[in-house]
Amino acid sequence: MAKLIGSIGTSHIPAIGGAIAKNLQQDPYWKPFFNGFPPVRDWLATARPDVVVVFHNDHGLNFFLDKMPTFSVGAAPQYQTADEGWGIPTLPPVPGQQDLSWHVINMLVEQEFDVVTCQEMLVDHAVTLPLKLLWPGDCPVQVVPICINTVQLPLPSARRTYALGRAVGEAIHAWNSDKRVLVIGSGGLSHQLDGERAGHINKEFDLQFMSSMLSNPEWVTQFSVHELVEKTGTQGVELLMWVAMRGALSAGGASGVRKVHSNYHIPISNTATGLLALEAV
Ligand code: DHB
Ligand code: FE
Repeated sequence: MAKLIGSIGTSHIPAIGGAIAKNLQQDPYWKPFFNGFPPVRDWLATARPDVVVVFHNDHGLNFFLDKMPTFSVGAAPQYQTADEGWGIPTLPPVPGQQDLSWHVINMLVEQEFDVVTCQEMLVDHAVTLPLKLLWPGDCPVQVVPICINTVQLPLPSARRTYALGRAVGEAIHAWNSDKRVLVIGSGGLSHQLDGERAGHINKEFDLQFMSSMLSNPEWVTQFSVHELVEKTGTQGVELLMWVAMRGALSAGGASGVRKVHSNYHIPISNTATGLLALEAV
């Protein structure tokens, strides 16, 4: 049986790709953000995942307003990467793990999550940056990207997203493979990029949310999507990726979780950045 070894929640911001390309990791603006990652990389060097399931939100690259799946799962042999025009260099394609993709799709549909199946899927900074931050060299893992709509209303609730995550965790646990699987939630934390509240950041909520991931992972499911947008900003609702990630860890066969490392820094660009690594124990 496959082993779900743990999960990582992290923010994604296109400017991070620019900072990596320009080697600005120790620049005073970037240092408090990048310094969060070495302890997580050390853990990954011993935890040695083979496959990563990435809950991410597309930003209009792969799906646009005319066709907007609520939940979609990649089942491609590889995923072409593409920029949003903010200066990130084009990265090589990300290798897929099709056997796990199809297993997850089958199990989700069986559990009445009627997902869109994508035998082609482009990926943007929400997938490429976490991989680059966790493995700065060549990417040693295969991925299964799972996309959750945070672009156009209606969005799935935190409760539904947590349930999706649980179903994915059960699927990973039941996967007939000797692979070691990590789950990533890529998005958030609080940020609003446009409108009158542009620049909105809610540190108090972010920190409470991060600590709930350890003490009470279903805490956030009490809030509606509109309440989450009110608290965290229009793009802060990307924290749903963390919610799915945590649901997967809860249902992935572990009896508990241990915090490996966390970091919180505001702002990078207009965004509050969070990092949380949890080990399944
Ligand atoms: C920024 C944050 C995001 O989540 C995103 O997808 C794009 C940009 C930002 O803060 O610049
Ligand atoms: Fe985003």
